[in-house]
Amino acid sequence: MTEGRLWGGRFTEQPDAAAFQLGRSVHFDVRLWPYDLAGSRVHADELLRLGLLIADDHRAITAGLDTIGEELAAARFAFADGDEDLHGAVERRLIEVAGEAGGRLRAGRSRNDQIASDLRLYLADAIDDLTGDIRALQEALATQAEVAADWLVPGYTHLQRAQPVTLGHHLLAHAWALQRDCGRLRDARRRILDASPLGAGALAGVTLGLDLARYAERLGFTDVAANSMDAVADRDFAVEFLAAAALVGVHLSRLGEEVMLWSSTEFGWVTVGDAFSTGSSIMPQKRNPDVAELVRGKTGRLLGDLVSLLVTLKGLPLTYNRDLQEDKEPVFDAVDTLRLALPAMAGMVATLRFDGERLALAAAGGGALATDVAEELVRRGVAFRVAHERVGALVATCDERGIDLRDLTSAELAALLPELDGVEALLDARAAVTRRDTVSGPAAVHRQLRQLRAAFQAAR
Ligand code: ARG
Repeated sequence: MTEGRLWGGRFTEQPDAAAFQLGRSVHFDVRLWPYDLAGSRVHADELLRLGLLIADDHRAITAGLDTIGEELAAARFAFADGDEDLHGAVERRLIEVAGEAGGRLRAGRSRNDQIASDLRLYLADAIDDLTGDIRALQEALATQAEVAADWLVPGYTHLQRAQPVTLGHHLLAHAWALQRDCGRLRDARRRILDASPLGAGALAGVTLGLDLARYAERLGFTDVAANSMDAVADRDFAVEFLAAAALVGVHLSRLGEEVMLWSSTEFGWVTVGDAFSTGSSIMPQKRNPDVAELVRGKTGRLLGDLVSLLVTLKGLPLTYNRDLQEDKEPVFDAVDTLRLALPAMAGMVATLRFDGERLALAAAGGGALATDVAEELVRRGVAFRVAHERVGALVATCDERGIDLRDLTSAELAALLPELDGVEALLDARAAVTRRDTVSGPAAVHRQLRQLRAAFQAAR
């Protein structure tokens, strides 16, 4: 008997148990069932239209598919040991509930075109969920940025204080990175849906006269795949998704890393809310930013998922090879990982409480204003190369004396920078931020927030 397995007629022996277990995929591909059943419904209609199914059989099949859908939705579907994959399980059950007619639905289709179609449709929906999750994190960042739009903080390069910015500007930098992620996922989704594989059959199309455009249209594809061999061999769409997902992970990890740094006693900039912190089993004082750490850790899996599929595909001859069954678990893992990580990050970001005074203190150091002094010299006609040297020497003097630029007296400043009057006014972090009034600069947080929110709106 071959129930639950869609092949076997030409064999005399039953499959070896270990070989069968190796090939079994039903425990993970079952999640594709809504898309598989949708494809089966369209296929039954097409067979009816072509006179390849009589109305009674068509009715029995559609009713059977309804029953199977209800069973799967309610997690009542009883899998049999012999169910090799979702397609096998569905046909086995369809014959149980619809009788002999259930064996007629396989005409003109192959698991090769079915699985390619199922995975594409699944991913299109998953991307919709994920962009919603990303949006929620962006909103959390935007809300924090709005509150802290004008709070001064030192901006860093090389993790060394560089120039003053605002906390709002810094937080929005993360939101803009996530905005690109949404764009990448939407691009991937467009290519996922522009090539309906059904009708490609095993690889060379089918002989029954199916109208491929009907499948595409009814399943929500924008077009039929142009080449039947490519249709069953192609997993580029899954790679594109995994690449976009890996990058989302990298962005979450970078944001998480900053939360870890900022919440350390050394920085003391921020407190993560209780609900998103954990304690230690031995050290009673501990308050650990576990969410950020876990998400940084999960990013490793996301990168692995991408590499895993690329390695599977590399060197595969056309068209379908059973290796391709390995496409699904990395994709599902990436979707699950992000659906777990994104809401946790959004929740954590919403609980962040920044210590505005400490931030202002950190931003006040005159060292971060050295560029401004040099640029003021440029305005007075000094070549930047010379200005840079002179201010550098000034900083070195301060370092030697163990003081800040702002600790120099007016007389000292006047002696060292005779071209400048009122250098003290230059050495003010607030003024330094206000001066940076370019479109992308830190003085424009409120406008950038409006721009970002307009982009949210446009994407809806
Ligand atoms: N379970 C298979 C997969 O996930 C379905 C396609 C199997 N096709 C075949 N010719 N064995 O790829």
